[in-house]
Amino acid sequence: MAEEAMNSGSDSAAVAARSHGAAGDVAVGTAVVSDDAVQNPGLPAHRKRVTDTDPKKEKRAERIVFTLFYLSIAGSLGSVLAYMFFPIETGDLMAIRLNTLFVGLGMALALLAVGIGAVHWGKALMADHESIDERHPVASDTATREASAEVFELADKESGFSRRSLVRNSLIGALVAFPLPGITLLRGLAPQDKDPVELLKHTMWDKGIRLARDPSGVPIKASDVTIGSAFHVIPENLHEAEHVLDEKAKAIVLLMRLDPADLKELPERKTWSYNGIVAYSKVCTHVGCPVALYEQRTHHLLCPCHQSQFDVSEHAKVIFGPAKRPLPQLPITVDEEGYLVAQSDFHEPVGPSFWERLK
Ligand code: FES
Repeated sequence: MAEEAMNSGSDSAAVAARSHGAAGDVAVGTAVVSDDAVQNPGLPAHRKRVTDTDPKKEKRAERIVFTLFYLSIAGSLGSVLAYMFFPIETGDLMAIRLNTLFVGLGMALALLAVGIGAVHWGKALMADHESIDERHPVASDTATREASAEVFELADKESGFSRRSLVRNSLIGALVAFPLPGITLLRGLAPQDKDPVELLKHTMWDKGIRLARDPSGVPIKASDVTIGSAFHVIPENLHEAEHVLDEKAKAIVLLMRLDPADLKELPERKTWSYNGIVAYSKVCTHVGCPVALYEQRTHHLLCPCHQSQFDVSEHAKVIFGPAKRPLPQLPITVDEEGYLVAQSDFHEPVGPSFWERLK
């Protein structure tokens, strides 16, 4: 019975194979190569472009291409000029709109023109024939290098990169000019009228300025700070600053109280703390994130950005992570009313160690 079923299975496979054109009997499970597979239709007949048959049209296409590249140059330069002639005035919304509009239009023209020019060059002027690129192992032997050089030479010949000097030079000009608007815009990141280095070197802290809670601005009394507590602190006079957020970003401080016995203070800094209360810049010395996490048991401050850790009991020295220098300490004391006040500004620049290189 079982033998019969097997024979009948073998017969049906052979029939199926024959119906597909395979010769002879075929065992079950054998792959059959059919002789009526879809034939490779090949490439359609090649149609020449107008620029291949008419030299005038070819010349015209060339003119379009280099005009587009020159337009791109004009767009890039226009963008730079727009940045200069439509400056951003603080608080003037129309000035911001005009600056954005014209700088953007210039950059859009530069990018569009160089893109369309490159596409038009490829479609209308570069060689138009189909070729087969055989696969081969990638190897940098001499024969391959020579073949590559030949390909480059052929591409150069067919694209006319060396021959069409006007197109080539205008393209190079467009590509050189294109980054200019981006570089120009970097100027907008720096303060417009003052030396940015000087601006960033000093904070609002000065002798006698009270330490206040962030964000309420309520001054802090030394008696309010219990052992183990931590306060986010701003200068009491912060609201008087012309650029409040800029000043706050530099002057922000963390205040903590430790048991004085736990503090390992350098002799020259013993007067910078008050009854175990110490104040350190909150701006991480790695890349400037706010160091906001205080672990009161270990006295460690953690920066959440890249996990730098600072030991508050030892002048906020770095004990882990990518930061390269301790958090700057703000020397503090108390005034006659018992409020915590700064003795001076920080003695070193706050923030990323980039400042170290300017010393
Ligand atoms: S900014 Fe603090 S660790 Fe990177």
